[in-house]
Amino acid sequence: MALQSKKRASEGPDGPPARSERSPGKFITFEGGEGTGKSTQVAMLALRLEAHGIAVLVTREPGGSPGAEIIRHVLLSGAAKPLGPDAEAMLFAAAREDHVRCTIKPALDSGKWVVCDRFADSTRVYQGVLGQVDQRLINGLERVSIGDLSPDLTLVLDLPVEAAFERRTRRRGGAAPDRFEAEDLEFHQKLRQAYLALAAREPHRCVVIDAGTSKEEVAKQIWRVVNSRFDPGMAPLTAEDLVS
Ligand SMILES: Nc1ncnc2c1ncn2[C@@H]1O[C@H](COP(=O)(O)OP(=O)(O)OP(=O)(O)O)[C@@H](O)[C@H]1O
Ligand SMILES: [Mg+2]
Repeated sequence: MALQSKKRASEGPDGPPARSERSPGKFITFEGGEGTGKSTQVAMLALRLEAHGIAVLVTREPGGSPGAEIIRHVLLSGAAKPLGPDAEAMLFAAAREDHVRCTIKPALDSGKWVVCDRFADSTRVYQGVLGQVDQRLINGLERVSIGDLSPDLTLVLDLPVEAAFERRTRRRGGAAPDRFEAEDLEFHQKLRQAYLALAAREPHRCVVIDAGTSKEEVAKQIWRVVNSRFDPGMAPLTAEDLVS
């Protein structure tokens, strides 16, 4: 397969292979505050990759496997909130372990690219920074839930909280906000700063995307990053891609 032979060409002569060389597929995660456009951009990137002949699995957290979807309901309904942030972090980790084992790893091993709406960084930020769960617990849970499955690329969508709030309100119509949407403005400010700090700590993996422009403009920024990070010859830019 063209994709696999390109990967072999990128292997270094020494040292252990990177995860992306052990698994043929690429693992891309989207992170960022609520209403920043993650789900919108996940769908747009998947369509674009597929248009370039790449098999893609789109998935999301919490959830993404039958067991994890059950836990998703418990978490997002707020039923677990009285148990406290430590227990919430454990539930997220339980869901993630199931998701990785049943959905993500099999897809990567089969050569698919996996595009995931939220992943372990969400636990670092929501439970670790905002919930003040002990860092040792966060790290331990991450080890057991994902092992060495670090994303190849994490796109952090960044948007002022007021703009994100407006988008969420419009999207929701008359429906009630979920457990995390219902937090106050200060919570969302801290969330934004925590994501920016996380991205700054891991610049090799994380790229901050300005999510304040149109859906198409944001998609173009993301496509440029994907092209520059991964084999640029894999998916040549079209004339439309080059118009900014
Ligand atoms: N660039 C954009 N400009 C204007 N509206 C947008 C843009 N991107 C997304 N939206 C709209 O904003 C709303 C929120 O987008 P989306 O659901 O993709 O965000 P999200 O980050 O997945 O939110 P959540 O964290 O709550 O899952 C949707 O109604 C979507 O259509
Ligand atoms: Mg979403």
